[in-house]
Amino acid sequence: MTRPTLSLAQGAKASRVLGVGSTQPDRVVTNDELSQYMDTSDQWIRDRVGIIERRFAAEDERLVDMAVTAGAKALADAGVAPSEVDTVIVPNCTLPAPIPNAAAQVADRIGIKAAGAFDLNAACAGFCYGLGVASDLIRAGSAKKVLVIGAEKLTDVVDPTDRSTAIIFADGAGAALVGPSDEPGIGPVAWGSAGDMVDVIYMRDNRYLHQEGQPVFRWATTQIAPVAKRAVDLAGLQLSDIDVLIPHQANLRIVEAIAKRLRAQGARDDMVVADDIRYSGNTSSASIPMALDHMRAAGTVKPGDIVLTVGFGAGLSYAGQVLICP
Ligand code: UT7
Repeated sequence: MTRPTLSLAQGAKASRVLGVGSTQPDRVVTNDELSQYMDTSDQWIRDRVGIIERRFAAEDERLVDMAVTAGAKALADAGVAPSEVDTVIVPNCTLPAPIPNAAAQVADRIGIKAAGAFDLNAACAGFCYGLGVASDLIRAGSAKKVLVIGAEKLTDVVDPTDRSTAIIFADGAGAALVGPSDEPGIGPVAWGSAGDMVDVIYMRDNRYLHQEGQPVFRWATTQIAPVAKRAVDLAGLQLSDIDVLIPHQANLRIVEAIAKRLRAQGARDDMVVADDIRYSGNTSSASIPMALDHMRAAGTVKPGDIVLTVGFGAGLSYAGQVLICP
């Protein structure tokens, strides 16, 4: 008797980002406001981190709420109906409790029925991990259209009096809808982790985020540009092909250090470099799609531009890829 063989799904030739969207809470928090609660100053924060102001969510504004808004905007931007989406991924690391996940609720509230729905925790690298997974699901035939929403309410996990974290982190959500394409619009993901450095960012007593800023800063300014370069190599491009660089918006000095290293290796002087942190703060897994959405709205990134993303953070985890701006 011959044993039956299993059929495999037929995937798309390639994938691309079809639309993006983002949201931020209404409440603007200035550096001067923060200096009322802790020993810091507007000048120090601008000089050392690059943040001018950030947004904090209201007490009753949940991570899931922000994810729904950003996800719905990405669908509208792509002109795709919720009924066409079959998978929702919500990269995040600040959901108040791990059960239930955010993705199933987000799918339901957007009106995406019976979606494959899961959260993904790679901290501030989460969006790039999610985009890599979404792209591969589509190419493998496991999904047709995947909504990836980086969403964070960091103010839930930051001690409001801890000046090493409270001045950096903020709230918001950014989303990308990923679908099939004849031409590659998302390059292979370059990802990895450095679990030997797990102790530099963690949840203290399961309550507040603890970060040892200097080791993370040194690691990010030396180890992340090579990850970005690897993403460019995997996409079969040269650094000089990159129009726009969007690193995770952790600290403007880190962003500039990554850009400087890449320029030393051939990236163009006129490569646009994201500085969305100035008015958004560090929103972890939301920072890259939020920056992309803001930059496209401002016209600093145009449809068809070749964009290099790279995320990095707790874990330590990192990931990057090249994408074509929708
Ligand atoms: O998103 C996940 C990944 N996270 C990151 O990538 C964050 C990486 N780290 C950083 O961005 C930076 O290390 C921080 C922004 C967290 C801190 O900046 P820094 O330049 O590394 O400051 P530092 O800890 O070396 O402190 C320098 C000085 C110290 O004073 P002395 O000893 O030189 O007199 C600190 O006490 O600045 C002081 N300081 C502050 N002063 C005013 C530290 N934090 C503050 C503050 N306000 N908030």
